[in-house]
Amino acid sequence: MMTVKEVAHAPLKKNEEKASYNIILLGPPGAGKGTQGQAISLKYGIPKISTGDILREAVVHKTPLGVQAKSFMDQGKLVSDEIVNGLVRERLSQPDCLKGFILDGFPRTVQQADTLRKMLEDFGLKIDAVISFDIGEQELISRLSGRRSCPKCKAVFHISFQPPKKSGICDGCGGALIQRDDDKEETIKHRLREYQEKTKPLLNYYEKSGLFHSLPGDGSIESVNKTVERILSKQKME
Ligand code: AP5
Repeated sequence: MMTVKEVAHAPLKKNEEKASYNIILLGPPGAGKGTQGQAISLKYGIPKISTGDILREAVVHKTPLGVQAKSFMDQGKLVSDEIVNGLVRERLSQPDCLKGFILDGFPRTVQQADTLRKMLEDFGLKIDAVISFDIGEQELISRLSGRRSCPKCKAVFHISFQPPKKSGICDGCGGALIQRDDDKEETIKHRLREYQEKTKPLLNYYEKSGLFHSLPGDGSIESVNKTVERILSKQKME
């Protein structure tokens, strides 16, 4: 069987298009990474890899990793780099990522970013765009406190800004929507502090890469999406 690196560099067949985007979405909790990631994933048919979703799934199933991660997540703290790096390496080595991927919520520390760089080198892959959503704290709190999520298909809604067609029911799969445990005000404040201390330094880290795009995240979902699309199509032409 071919390795991920071999498949990534295999010559293209006639009429076959080059693999599409490998994207990193950055921004504080509630900035819209999941929402925009979901839209890009649908448009380009590439997987959205949310470390938060993978960890929440492990918590629900009470796997050893989930048990370890739960207390950190409940307090709004970051889970250890070692755990998260391992999860991402495993996920990126799956064949669907060869068509491209969207990293939502990873990397989140400089250590994770360094590990990702080495991981991608091993796989013979590279990042095409790093998109960061810039947004004020009050807006973040109102987004997070009104968020409702589908635990089955991971779709994201908001009671006012993006309501489901039928209250409490997922438009996509018909599952019952829930409010995340960490979307309580006290935990939100802790998550925002973690972002400032540990994740914000990544903006500088990626600014030097030439792939970094910062955009205002406080417009409507549609207008933010248009800007993301513009960035991606410009990136493709370069
Ligand atoms: P994670 O699940 O990644 O949460 P997060 O980064 O805090 O981000 P959110 O999912 O809260 O927000 P989002 O930016 O995706 O916003 P969304 O699109 O949903 O992580 C959870 C926990 O897991 C962490 O605290 C940590 O413990 C652990 N973890 C995960 N990754 C880790 C890592 N790499 N390292 C260590 N630990 C890790 O939007 C929010 C709401 O706003 C929605 O209701 C949406 O409908 C609405 N909305 C979105 N865009 C707009 C808009 N433009 N206008 C109006 N409303 C909007």
